[in-house]
Amino acid sequence: MVYTQNLTKRTSHGILPLFLKACGSLALLPLGVCLHGECVKAGLIHEVLVGTSFVSMYCKCGCLMNGDMERALVLFERSPEKTLVTWATMIDGVARIGDTVSARQLFDRTPDELRTVVTWTVMVHGYAANGEMDEAREMFERMPCRSFFVWSSMISGYFKKGEAKEARAIFDRIPERNLVNWNALIAGYAQIGSCEEALDAFRQMQMDGFEPDEFTMASVLSACSQLGSLEMGKKIHDMINRKRINMNHFVLNGLVDMYAKCGDLERAKTIFHGMKNKNVVCWNAMISGLATHGQCEEALALFDRMEESEKKPNNVTFLVALSACTHGGFVNRGLDIFKKMEKYNLVAGVEHYGCLVDLLGRAGRLNEAYNVIKSMPGSPNRSVWGALLGACKIHGDDKMADRILSNLSSNAENDDVKYVVLSNVYAASEKWEEAERMWRVMAENGMRKIPGCSSIMVGDLELRFHSGATTEYKACENLV
Ligand SMILES: *[C@@H]1O[C@H](CO)[C@@H](O)[C@H](O)[C@H]1NC(C)=O
Ligand SMILES: *[C@@H]1O[C@H](CO)[C@@H](O)[C@H](O)[C@H]1NC(C)=O
Ligand SMILES: *[C@@H]1O[C@H](CO)[C@@H](O)[C@H](O)[C@H]1NC(C)=O
Repeated sequence: MVYTQNLTKRTSHGILPLFLKACGSLALLPLGVCLHGECVKAGLIHEVLVGTSFVSMYCKCGCLMNGDMERALVLFERSPEKTLVTWATMIDGVARIGDTVSARQLFDRTPDELRTVVTWTVMVHGYAANGEMDEAREMFERMPCRSFFVWSSMISGYFKKGEAKEARAIFDRIPERNLVNWNALIAGYAQIGSCEEALDAFRQMQMDGFEPDEFTMASVLSACSQLGSLEMGKKIHDMINRKRINMNHFVLNGLVDMYAKCGDLERAKTIFHGMKNKNVVCWNAMISGLATHGQCEEALALFDRMEESEKKPNNVTFLVALSACTHGGFVNRGLDIFKKMEKYNLVAGVEHYGCLVDLLGRAGRLNEAYNVIKSMPGSPNRSVWGALLGACKIHGDDKMADRILSNLSSNAENDDVKYVVLSNVYAASEKWEEAERMWRVMAENGMRKIPGCSSIMVGDLELRFHSGATTEYKACENLV
């Protein structure tokens, strides 16, 4: 069965409405949306039958997602007549709540005549979406025939695990690629930060004669943004206009994010303010762009406006706003913002505490910073300690450094770090003799300075070795 490749008028009366119905029943929204896109392109959307099927699909997908799986299972087991669609719906639903074991049991129980490519696709997709790639692969290899959707499921699954090589190998095996497959590849590369590869794939896709759509463009913009390549980003923007690509919110978010990250704040602002429905991601991109390019006041003003809008800030927004306070040196503002998280039922994570420690530390409020670390839930990691140590260095507070280092040293693996950092802090507070002594202790204890290497990274803390007894370190900027 070939569902989507070479859509023709003929298919619109045959398998397509049935398959869309199945997508709806299966809550296979992504698949349904892909098909929708392809139908629009093939000029089939005006066919009444196809149109009706889409409405029904979207409705069912929406309704089923909130379904109560257990009750559904009971009903399913009781129902005397089970169809292909009900079996596949159950497998998909059970996999969706993460229970791949039960999903597999259902799959194995599906009667042979009802076990079609849809059933197989749903099972493989279930494994892949849950990150169980070995199981997904095993079933994928055994599939009697493959839908285009299952190839994309495998590609996205491997990318989610960071296994780009496997994803690419699957892609290279696709007998007849379509746009959805290319989009999975390009999006995957962009998501794992392999931006050059994403752009290469984008070029190859065009050479293969495919026209990009809004999903392709959103991924490509993300790659440009991560690379900080304004030039490439502008080219993509031109292409979007030239090819009249649908400016949906993925594309608009992508444009705002790209211009903001690449430092063209004026253009980012123009697009941002022109958008009717800004989602949280878009607000975050704009606030972050302003903060990282030194316009901290404006970033915080935008944060205030967001609070007044109907979109509520999420934990990432708070991180971005806190970092704006850190960059701008607005300590009390930062403390207020941090307190506000509770109001939105948000739980502060290590990053938020790290930001707060950095904020207080830079302002010389080291005791408060230390108390933040003491009171934070969970264990502070070395990035958080690093932020405070950085502040100790700036303010020459070796007593605080001692306190911190005694905490760090309860962890044996930090021993070398302890000496290096301590000698740094002493050096910074001009206790050169003490620093010299620490350095000797390190040498005697056999801490090696890797030849030809002038620095080591400990978490986000870069320890720099210089000639002689002194070393220097700097905490890397807390970039969001
Ligand atoms: C935000 O919350 C989500 C879900 O609770 C979590 O997975 C994510 O790591 C959090 N991000 C930050 C920056 O705290
Ligand atoms: C640091 O170590 C001291 C002594 O072991 C302990 O009392 C204190 O709670 C520790 N502080 C933190 C923030 O872990
Ligand atoms: C500390 O935790 C944060 C958040 O989970 C993480 O981004 C950072 O890389 C961690 N640092 C270290 C040294 O593990």
